[in-house]
Amino acid sequence: MKNHDIVEKNIGLMVVLIIVAISFGTLVEIVPQFFLKETTTKVEGLKPLAAVELEGRDIYIREGCHVCHTQMVRPLRAEVERYGHYSVAGESVYEHPFLWGSKRTGPDLARVGKRYSDQWHKAHLYNPRNVVPESNMPAFPWLFDTTLDGKYTAKKMQALKKVGVPYTQEQIDGASEAVQGVTEIDALVAYLQQLGTLLTHKR
Ligand code: HEC
Repeated sequence: MKNHDIVEKNIGLMVVLIIVAISFGTLVEIVPQFFLKETTTKVEGLKPLAAVELEGRDIYIREGCHVCHTQMVRPLRAEVERYGHYSVAGESVYEHPFLWGSKRTGPDLARVGKRYSDQWHKAHLYNPRNVVPESNMPAFPWLFDTTLDGKYTAKKMQALKKVGVPYTQEQIDGASEAVQGVTEIDALVAYLQQLGTLLTHKR
């Protein structure tokens, strides 16, 4: 009892001990994840994004798509029935930064790949109301006017390689050529079409 009085009467000490208690709770939750094999083992068939898809991903981030769309199907029946197989850690091994998100103004996109045609995506991104009349998603018509020059694609791949994405020298050397002249819309759609296609998805 006496020791506890000391803590209760000394706000500085109490703050320190509260922080210790909270960080311990956090550590217990987070540290084991580093040692779980399934959080670092990639799912079968996982490959680093191709040059054009990688640029598409950066457009996705630039335009803030991740602010309205999550990329994480939770293991709940309603989600699995709507979107397909729940997301697993092994799909995100090469994701830097990951785009799981937490806010769904629009639907989750983790398994949107191959769900619609390229044409559908283009019509939708040009003006969502053209294909989904009640949509309140913003239009992105400027993506049709800009072509990529591929100036930094190789550098981006090199940076990703440093954090463990296994790009080959051949891919890095060919990156700028692969991307040059591709429109932003084509790059973005290429990125969307590969999302979540490794695990079987049903609608
Ligand atoms: C302000 C929020 C908002 C932003 C920003 C946004 N979206 Fe959406 N998105 C929505 C809403 C709401 C819907 C559902 C209505 C519809 O299909 O248009 C949607 C639907 C979609 C769908 C169809 C998903 C499905 O399963 O039917 C795709 C694909 C999509 N958005 C891609 C994008 C991309 C790519 C970007 C960035 C260029 C983007 N969205 C930015 C709100 C947003």
